[in-house]
Amino acid sequence: MPGSFFVKTDKKGPLGVLILAAGQGTRMHSSTPKVLHRIGGRPMIHYMLRAANALKPSGIGVVVGHEAEAVRKTIADSLRDWGVTRPVTFIHQKNLTGSGAAVLESLPFLRKFKTALVTAGDTPLLTFDTLNSVLRHHEEQKCQVTLLTARLRDPRGYGRIVRSPLGEVVRIVEELDATPKEAAITEVNSGSYCFEVGLLVEAVKKLSPKNAKKELYLTDALEHIRTQGGRVSAHQTQTGEECQGVNNRLQQSNAERILNRRMLERLMLSGVTVLDPATTYADADVEVGQDSLLMPGTILRGKTKIGNRCRIGPWTRIEDSQIGNECEVLFSYVKEARLLEKTMVGPFAHIRPGTTAGPRAKIGNFSEVKASRIGYGSKVSHLSYIGDADIAEDVNIGAGTITCNYDGKEKHRTTIGAKAFIGSNTNLVAPVKIGRGALVAAGSTITEDVPDGALAIARERQVNKVRK
Ligand code: UD1
Ligand code: CA
Repeated sequence: MPGSFFVKTDKKGPLGVLILAAGQGTRMHSSTPKVLHRIGGRPMIHYMLRAANALKPSGIGVVVGHEAEAVRKTIADSLRDWGVTRPVTFIHQKNLTGSGAAVLESLPFLRKFKTALVTAGDTPLLTFDTLNSVLRHHEEQKCQVTLLTARLRDPRGYGRIVRSPLGEVVRIVEELDATPKEAAITEVNSGSYCFEVGLLVEAVKKLSPKNAKKELYLTDALEHIRTQGGRVSAHQTQTGEECQGVNNRLQQSNAERILNRRMLERLMLSGVTVLDPATTYADADVEVGQDSLLMPGTILRGKTKIGNRCRIGPWTRIEDSQIGNECEVLFSYVKEARLLEKTMVGPFAHIRPGTTAGPRAKIGNFSEVKASRIGYGSKVSHLSYIGDADIAEDVNIGAGTITCNYDGKEKHRTTIGAKAFIGSNTNLVAPVKIGRGALVAAGSTITEDVPDGALAIARERQVNKVRK
């Protein structure tokens, strides 16, 4: 039956997702709150919110505490951009005394639901599919608690799953509180759990800080629920990869590598050639068309969209830009710009926000273009600065041309008509208009408009003197 894969929250009572994101992230050694650290160009909490949203819960709660206002604002301002459509509630945790304390302060939110999926804010590799499997497991096995676990070759830093001889989950022991025998257990807690809310509410009220960190551990709630006769079970992931938390910069770089690899695999399987995945980066929202080639050192950020049959790189960064079909960009930086089809950029060009170039335009070596329109077939091939300019089709801009667009107070525009030819080393002092088919002699400083078809020369006449 189509759709049976999804958990039907309407029939079984509403589902709430609670994301714990109040911790400081001491081990990051950073002034930025941990969940705002970026992975794949996005704050790590973005991945948690996206996966949570895909479960279609009735509500998502985000617990904030350390730098609460900064975290709340970043998330609230980005929800639309991230495609989070379910209602999001922020819960302010006043006492940062552990994951159990975070849940305790979230009880008014949690009480609205029958089932709650509680997850950490620092496990960005978790996918919707896995969280959905936890929910299905929880319902099919009629559990009161289902926790997501993984077997890790190196379980250090995680809570260990203590099971009875019959294999039932007995409790979770945190590393600092574990005996050597418990520390040798390789099954770990991912930090994501599904709870029957009624039992969770009662259990967290009984938590006590009798542990190495003197915190209220959410993980201790399991034992309370078990002693009340609740069924506690574990859903173990196939690979440990998704359960890895990000607590320090080493784990952050590891998560970055894994998310990037997932993204590049998706691109490669859709028809993109990636010569060297180890040095190629693509953010989660990047799109690349069929038969395009990404060469080593290519970094595609934000909402960049690249067409078909493009050649990008090597050593190129493109941010929030649209690149049409059959474009080439090498050794260059392109930001918030549009390249229309068959446009060539680089090597060593800087295309700045508000630029549209092409089709078939060329922006070459050591040229910078800002907030300009470069028309069909026009060329800015060498060593030029083009700012605030409207350049029509088939214009040739000679080497070393500068639009003098700034008078110290305001920016002014330069307009250049079709088929105009600007000689090398020309200064175009804006505001100024160069007519269609006009020719500007090399070395000119143009301060007045040039009519259509005219030849403008604005430079000293050469004098040859006899040398003694
Ligand atoms: C936690 C688990 C551990 C598990 C691991 C998985 C506990 C006691 N331990 O350990 O069993 O293996 O995650 O990654 O839960 N937070 C708050 N408020 C607080 C403290 C923490 O919201 O007062 C949030 C943090 O922002 C974080 C999450 O809870 O997103 C987990 O906290 P963290 O300190 O990272 O716990 P771990 O030591 O990783
Ligand atoms: Ca953690």
